[in-house]
This record gives sequence, C-alpha cells and structure tokens, in this order.
Amino acid sequence: MNFDLGFLGAGNMAEAIARAALDRHVLPAGRMIAADPLGPRRDLFAALGIAVTADSAEVVARSAQVLLAVKPQSLADLAGPLRVVDRARQVLVSIMAGIAIRRIEELAGGPARVVRVMPNTPLLVGCGMAGIAVGPHSRPGDEDLALRLFGAAGEAVLVAERDIDAITAVSGSGPAYVFYLAEAMEQAALELGLGAHARRLVQQTILGAARLLGASGQPPQALRRMVTSRGGTTEAAVRHLDAQGTAAVFVAAIKAAHARSVELGQG
Ligand SMILES: NC(=O)c1ccc[n+]([C@@H]2O[C@H](COP(=O)([O-])OP(=O)(O)OC[C@H]3O[C@@H](n4cnc5c(N)ncnc54)[C@H](OP(=O)(O)O)[C@@H]3O)[C@@H](O)[C@H]2O)c1
Repeated sequence: MNFDLGFLGAGNMAEAIARAALDRHVLPAGRMIAADPLGPRRDLFAALGIAVTADSAEVVARSAQVLLAVKPQSLADLAGPLRVVDRARQVLVSIMAGIAIRRIEELAGGPARVVRVMPNTPLLVGCGMAGIAVGPHSRPGDEDLALRLFGAAGEAVLVAERDIDAITAVSGSGPAYVFYLAEAMEQAALELGLGAHARRLVQQTILGAARLLGASGQPPQALRRMVTSRGGTTEAAVRHLDAQGTAAVFVAAIKAAHARSVELGQG
C-alpha cells in the first residue's frame, strides 16, 4: 500500500479530518490520497499536499485504510470501487450517517474490517465529538487510526455499534439543538430591541457557557444554580421553561432523532 489513508469523497467532513490530521501530526500529507469527482475539491486537497485522483478505485487499491466520506445517498456509487478492496488487509472507515456496518460489508462483497464513526459538524472547527464502533470482523487495533484522527479534530469515544443511533441523536444531531436555542435567543434579543448586538450577544453567551461547562467539572444543574438567585431574573425564565415542560420536550425530541436513526439504519 502506498498510502496510510485514502479518502473516498473530498467534501467538507473529509477536508476537516485531513486538516486535523496534518495540524496535529497524525499523518503527513504524503501518506494520504483523496478521490472526488469535483475538480475544485481535488485542487483543495492537492494544495494541502495530498495526492488526488478522480478514480475512487485507485484510492481503494492504494490505501491501507479507506475513509468513506460521501453522502449516504451516494453509497451505491461506492459498490464498484469497493469491489477491489482486499478484505483481509484493508480497513474501511465509514462516517456515513445511518449506514450500518453490515451494509458496508455487503458493498465490499463479504466480511470486512469495518470501523464506523459518527462525527458531528463542530469537527469543522476542531471541536468535534465522535463515537467510533468496530465491526464484527475488524481486528484489534483497526480503530486506532480513527481514534487518533477524530481525537485530533476534537474528541472520540469507542462504543458498540448498537449505541451509534443514540450517539447520532445526542452528539451527531446535537449541534442543531444548540443552534435552535440560539435562534430563539436571538429572536428574543431582537424583540427586546438589541438590534445589531443581538447575534453577537447570543453567540458569545453560548460559547462562554459551553466553555464553562467543559472547564468547570461541574454538572450543568450546579452551573445553572450559580446564575439562579431566588426571586431573580433567571428564576423567572426557568419557572416559565419548567411550566411549559421544556426539558421533557427536549428529551422527547432526542428520542425522536434516535428512533429515526434506527429506522434509517434498517433501510
Ligand atoms: N455534516 C454532518 O453533520 C455529518 C455528521 C456526521 C456524519 N456525516 C457524514 O459525513 C459524510 C460526508 O458529509 P459531507 O458534509 O462532508 O459531504 P459533502 O461535502 O457532500 O462531501 C462528499 C463529497 O464526496 C463526493 N463524492 C460523491 N460520490 C463519490 C464517489 N463515488 N467517489 C468519490 N467521491 C464522491 C461528492 O461529490 P458530489 O458533490 O459530486 O457528489 C462530495 O464532494 C456523509 O455521509 C454524512 O452522513 C456528516
């Protein structure tokens, strides 16, 4: 094999993973190759010093580990290139949402060494959270490169594949719940007349709260109590949230994401 890592699909997620690998010295550019049908995407990877090709089969033939980073709807296009995989020697790492390890093995033509990753979009700014699961035919250590790559782009935990649907619901879709909150906070800020400052106030508040949550070692309830004095302003807001059953609504929403992930995985 000429390369340690080959990308099938040189899109947004692949780019973030490649940049993290380079920045954090997980792999040098010369150990990576990427395939993408789009010239501008290949040019971008080439500018990073990564070998590029329009031929996915070339990436499969020349890489010890192959990262499947196309949209799930393009999955069928990988059937041809994956036919040349050496299932005893190569590892397939998939970040495709909702695609079970079993389906990747089917595409590869039989039992294969598969590692499945559920990342999230904060990976794009080096602050991702990824769940990583190994398949029934992978070998000890097959997950090591994925753990280092996704660790370089944030954090990564090793889980059983049955937990990937829950990971999808919590951390995969999770950034959207925070953006939803940001939208509502921004609407309130505008309605309260904060105009041009509204977005910045909300962004910095969420960023600051997230950093405090990460750095303080305190559970979220304790941090919330710190800003909630009796009879005060925060208490007025939290009373309203409680009266509307907001926490239960969020729990039900995350369970709906989980149910949808299970459903997609069966398709
Ligand atoms: N974004 C998220 O929040 C998130 C989170 C977790 C997992 N993921 C997963 O990450 C994967 C990639 O997402 P993304 O946002 O990086 O997608 P993206 O930007 O659309 O990148 C996919 C790239 O792969 C190319 N491609 C399509 N078929 C190909 C083939 N047969 N061989 C080589 N390249 C091919 C696409 O080209 P064309 O545009 O010409 O098709 C595109 O440039 C998805 O499976 C998604 O489920 C995403």
